[in-house]
Order: sequence, then structure tokens, then C-alpha cells
Amino acid sequence: MLLDCDTGVDDALALILALRSPELDVLGVTTVSGNCHVDLATRNTLLVLEQLRLPQPPPVARGCDRPLHLPLQTATDVHGRDGLGGITALTGADGRRRYPEPALTPTGATGPEPMVDLARAHGQSLTLLCTGPLTNLATALALDRRAMAGVERVVFMGGAIRVPGNVTPVAEFNIAVDPHAAQAVLDSGLPLVMVPLDVTTRTVLTEAALQAAAARRFGWLSRLVLDLTAGYMAFHREAVGVAGALMHDPLTVGELLAPSLTHKTPLSVGVECEGALTRGMTVADLRSRPTGRRPAPNVEVAMEVEAPRFLDLFLERATG
Ligand code: BDR
Ligand code: CA
Repeated sequence: MLLDCDTGVDDALALILALRSPELDVLGVTTVSGNCHVDLATRNTLLVLEQLRLPQPPPVARGCDRPLHLPLQTATDVHGRDGLGGITALTGADGRRRYPEPALTPTGATGPEPMVDLARAHGQSLTLLCTGPLTNLATALALDRRAMAGVERVVFMGGAIRVPGNVTPVAEFNIAVDPHAAQAVLDSGLPLVMVPLDVTTRTVLTEAALQAAAARRFGWLSRLVLDLTAGYMAFHREAVGVAGALMHDPLTVGELLAPSLTHKTPLSVGVECEGALTRGMTVADLRSRPTGRRPAPNVEVAMEVEAPRFLDLFLERATG
């Protein structure tokens, strides 16, 4: 698989889950502007990979730096100014940074090319997992549609079908940042699985559950996950009224590990790219008796989730 992310606290949790899951072969990671600028997202990705102490970390390539047509909108209120919930400011007893700048560096290739190269090389055996705005994938499609059409499937976190948005009353962040890219992906004809707020907002890692798991299995990994989630949980407690961390991006990894965790419905979904009040809204045809011809489904949408089963899986892999 290729992980495409705007690292971000929950992207970092998704990276941890993916890289601690022996079933998954992470061939590469591409980054994109979203939660923070792509340069910071790249640094954050490398920092997390370095902390994971992998014998052979996957290559990380810096992707697109801005949405297709809109100015970049970031989410420092949710993820902190460093994009990692403030962990880069933590120091140990010796006064040194607990999470120093990574020694790992990104590959030379940038933009959409690394994604296209992997698609050319691995075709049907490559799954794309996108946890940020879909700019890299839309740009890769424009560059080499035929290579991208050969991938096995795309699983992406984004959208809100029957629930409110999280950046506007109707728009979810990843789609709102680059609605034109999301529309291009939905129009692509690729096999798509959407993991929207409908299921991710029901997948809440509580502080109590994390503390209990970390107490049972304490070690550097538990420490990292506790540090990463502290500020993110505080944001959800104060601004959203949720007692824990919403596991948006890690749930997409769960979708690869155990597809039975969610119940998926084939839907026809489009993105509102213009509306003054509705830009970034994912509009699904939910009519039971449409007048005129019903558009064919273009995406499998996760509409139900077994959240406790996913959270157990996450805690088993991401603590210790
Ligand atoms: C999505 O927006 C980002 O802030 C998160 O990382 C996640 O991908 C949730 O709407
Ligand atoms: Ca993300």
C-alpha cells in the first residue's frame, strides 16, 4: 500500500497502526498540504517513522503544496502549531527534546510523480490509502490516468453523508480543503471506499481506555501515543464536547486490516465546489424513489462501524 497523508495527529496514529501491522506492506508514504503545509507534514511523517524504530522505514516523498484551485486552509487549532499536538516542544529530564528533528530525509522525487511511479510499478497489487485532501491523487490522475486506473483500490477518509460537517455545517475538512480534487477522484471510475465522518465520529478513543491500555503495556510506543493524543483530546473535550480522540484516519487503516469492521453502501456521491454556504459538501443520492434516472454509484461508503472492535485492534497494536 501507499499511504498519502497530511500528518496531523490522527494521520500520525494511522501511520503507527499501518506500520505496526504485519499484514500491510507500506511501500511508500506521500505527503500533502492540509492539516499543515506539506513541508511540515513531511517533517512530521519522518519524525513519526523515526520514532517507530523500523529496520527499514518506507520512503517518504513530499507531495503537492496547495489545493488545485483554492488557497490552503490548515487546521492548527486541532493539531497544534507543529501539527503533532505540541509534542515537538516536550523535553525529557535531561532538558533535551523528547521528539527531536528527524535524521531521516524525504526522497528526491516530489509532487504527484512518486504516487504515479508506484502505481506504474505495482498496478493491481497497490492500494492507496489517503488520509488528507485528495490533491496528490487528483494530480496523479491528470498526469497518468492509465497508470492510476490500474490500482487495486483507493480508501480515503473524507466527507459527511448523513451527519454535519466539521469545518462548516456541511463540509468535512479533507474535502473542504480541496473539493475540486475530491470531485476529480469521485469522477475517476477507480474503485473507491469512502470513510466519512458518519463512522469516524462514532470511533472515539477515550482517555480512560488509552490510559488503561498504556498502563497494561507501558513502553516507548505507549508514551508516543499518549503524548500525541494529549492536545488532540483536549481540543475535542473543549471545542467539540467529545471525551476522547476521534479516530478519523486510523479507521481507514482498520478498513484495510478488517473490512468487516464497517458496513459499506454503494452510493452516488458528488462534491459541491461552488456554494457560498455549501462548498466542500459531499452530496449523496439517498432518495429511495428518484425522479428521473438514478446516477450509478461511484463509491462504497462506510456508513456503519463496529467501533469497540476497531479500538481494541488499535490499542493492541499501538501500545507497548
Ligand atoms: C480529517 O481532517 C483532518 O484534520 C484529520 O487529519 C482527518 O484526516 C477529519 O475531518
Ligand atoms: Ca488527515
